[in-house]
Amino acid sequence: MTIAAALLGEHALLYTQFDYVEQALLDRMTLSQVHCQAGMLRAALESHAHLEDELLFAPLEPYLGEANPLAMMRGEHCGIERALATLPRIVELSRARAGLLFVIEVARRHCAREEQAVYSLATTLLGSEESNRLCDRWAVRRGISQLR
Ligand SMILES: [Fe+2]
Ligand SMILES: [Fe+2]
Repeated sequence: MTIAAALLGEHALLYTQFDYVEQALLDRMTLSQVHCQAGMLRAALESHAHLEDELLFAPLEPYLGEANPLAMMRGEHCGIERALATLPRIVELSRARAGLLFVIEVARRHCAREEQAVYSLATTLLGSEESNRLCDRWAVRRGISQLR
């Protein structure tokens, strides 16, 4: 299994979490529930972004030229993290709901851009041996013991 496939699987779970917050709960959430969902999304997104940076972006960097999408992707990670860190300080329910919906929209677009602009190239650029080795490191970091 390649590192791109592992991270794509994480996106699939993030999309499920985005859908849950957007469709099932947001219209009837209390302020504390909005804050709680924002905290859970923050934990999931930060964990994903940090592993992605370490195990995909950093190894890919030497293969890419000056004009590459990684700086933009890292900037989006920071923007999403900052927005989610700010959300618990919003005490008006409608503003907190709108803020959470906005972050989800931004994060969903970010993930789709990564899939198109980064994940699709990763295995070709890194080669399958390196991609598999990085995936093994991902498995260790995620506590998965029986990947192969
Ligand atoms: Fe990302
Ligand atoms: Fe990602």
